[in-house]
Amino acid sequence: MSANNTPKPSAAGLLRGRFSEATDEFVEAFTASVSFDQRLYRQDIAGSIAHARMLNKIDILNDAECEQILSGLQDIQREIEAGEFNWQVALEDVHMNIESRLIERIGDTGKKLHTGRSRNDQVATDIRLYLRDAVDELIALETTLLGALTELAEQNADTIMPGFTHLQAAQPITFGHHLMAWFEMLLRDRERLQDARKRINVLPLGAAALAGTPYKPDREFVAQALGFDGVCENSLDAVSDRDFAIEFCAIAALTMTHLSRWCEELVLWSSQQFGFVNLPDRFCTGSSIMPQKKNPDVPELIRGKTGRVNGHLFSLLTLMKSQPLAYNKDNQEDKEPLFDAVDTLHGCLTALNGMVPHIEPNIEAMREATLKGYTTATDLADYLVRKNVPFRDAHEIVGRAVAQAVAKGMPLEALSLEELNGAHGGVITDDVYQVLSLAGSVAARDHFGGTAPNQVRQAVSRARARL
Ligand code: ARG
Repeated sequence: MSANNTPKPSAAGLLRGRFSEATDEFVEAFTASVSFDQRLYRQDIAGSIAHARMLNKIDILNDAECEQILSGLQDIQREIEAGEFNWQVALEDVHMNIESRLIERIGDTGKKLHTGRSRNDQVATDIRLYLRDAVDELIALETTLLGALTELAEQNADTIMPGFTHLQAAQPITFGHHLMAWFEMLLRDRERLQDARKRINVLPLGAAALAGTPYKPDREFVAQALGFDGVCENSLDAVSDRDFAIEFCAIAALTMTHLSRWCEELVLWSSQQFGFVNLPDRFCTGSSIMPQKKNPDVPELIRGKTGRVNGHLFSLLTLMKSQPLAYNKDNQEDKEPLFDAVDTLHGCLTALNGMVPHIEPNIEAMREATLKGYTTATDLADYLVRKNVPFRDAHEIVGRAVAQAVAKGMPLEALSLEELNGAHGGVITDDVYQVLSLAGSVAARDHFGGTAPNQVRQAVSRARARL
């Protein structure tokens, strides 16, 4: 021991008083988390500052001690941000590294910081702070992307494309309407994040190791200082559950699944076979061997990265499933999946924010594909129904007309009235050609939620209000 009674900081110095031998070297590395949890340093320091202020308020720390601790912690934050902090595996995790450095810097007063606190409530607090801020950033990225979708949808309220079922051309729709389907998916994802935030933003500190602490902590004070909406009700639950992280990963997985579906469409649509859209060159890459290639790597990667986020959800569910109350070291394994889920979703939303505003529809190619697909066949059946033909009969008449058009290699509207009427004669008259037109078909679906250009414009203006 040194003269001022402060042993050289190490995990051994801080928490191995009851042991008769040092930690096995392999075990030390195996149990350490500092390589990945050091990214929680800001949250850890903010939590410690709020805790120290609270200890001062309840007279565990006097003003001078509190000041010393606060400025010591601020100095440590500066050291970390200047890249001058010496992270040590021997000190296990972010919490012990910072606390130990505090003691090294300010001496014995630093040893008072951990009064009435455990790393169990400390780490739970850090992760909640981290995730709350991450969620806020993700919500902001989603809001930007939602805005970009409304812009593109508005510009393409009249752009006609084939709508698909079974990936077969089904009925004419507007490109704007298709984009607003993406909008609805992502808006629900954003709502889910907003809702989960309420359950993330609750303070565990005060739970200490698991049972609470005899110091009568002012938990409301700490919650307010850190911007939490409330305080965890039960100390065992506070230190042991990670359901808020699991819920986040579930939302992230679902969001990625949505983004993956969009991206699958972008990959298809930007292919030579579809040719519906051009993606900006700066979001595509070339081939090392085929000079003509323009590969949609960004949407492909987003589609691919969905797998890892789905995997992280399963990691966390499995991590939690057999843990008895309260804290178990298993929980240290929550961080890497959670961090990667956040980073991956963040990266994918950033990429889409760069790309979506610059998607160029190939209006002619979309129109051609809509015409080729006999997509107004249903309109013809509906027309016959309005002329009092039972729908099942109408379906059959139209089926025969389509077969004729296919045989002639022509669109439906190129057939004469005689050909369209077939054996049924007379029911179909001149007014059918308006019904068979693409513009007529989409304009007819003019109701709330329908594909008519007029409805797309209304949906866009409602969407802006919902943002
Ligand atoms: N690094 C640990 C974690 O991530 C901090 C909590 C450690 N608590 C303990 N009792 N060993 O969970």
